[in-house]
Amino acid sequence: MKRIVILISGRGSNMEAIVEACAAQAWPARVAAVISNRADAAGLDYAAARGIATAVVEHRAYADREGFDAALAQAIDAQAPDVVVLAGFMRVLGDAFVRRYRGRLINIHPSLLPRHPGLHTHRRALEAGDAEHGATVHFVTEQLDGGPAVIQGRLSVRTEDTADILSERVMTHIEVRIFPQAIAWMARGILRLEDGRVMLAGSRLDAPLQLADLEPGF
Ligand code: GRF
Repeated sequence: MKRIVILISGRGSNMEAIVEACAAQAWPARVAAVISNRADAAGLDYAAARGIATAVVEHRAYADREGFDAALAQAIDAQAPDVVVLAGFMRVLGDAFVRRYRGRLINIHPSLLPRHPGLHTHRRALEAGDAEHGATVHFVTEQLDGGPAVIQGRLSVRTEDTADILSERVMTHIEVRIFPQAIAWMARGILRLEDGRVMLAGSRLDAPLQLADLEPGF
């Protein structure tokens, strides 16, 4: 039974989707804990209501990144995680932290990486006039938003889209589908990071899988 720890900073929309999928699809895993850097993260209430352990490690309580990262790692390790999921976690994690969890640490970024790493991705996609936009699940490495990509989902940008509309469309049509899919593969032990390469069911992925290409129930 793999143990999943999910880190959040806010609503926890992706965390909810993973918790639901883990139960509905009977993954050989359980969400052992939800941890946030903010005591007011709404996702903590959802997790607690589901009987999932929660913890808060306030980044403001630490003088520097290393101190915060070490305290966060301590809270994570108390849960003996096989998978550490960054689900709307809004802190940049230092190299020592990334090295500690390499291969177990996975993130979702709301853009079609490598386009638009960093923040305000929906506004930037609109400003760039992108015809398509979406989200990417990737392993976390020392390169911010640059780790090896696993799966992407994309949609057409519409003329009436604002950054808020686009954000909601990407979340509801893409994020809450690709992230649970990737975590399910990790829970089943078929998605791995080996020598910096993504391995899925024994085959190397040199580019992220596209949600549209996936057979249902793969
Ligand atoms: C999402 O767009 C996610 O891609 C990004 O943070 C945003 C908020 O996530 N990393 P959530 O609603 O807190 O899950």
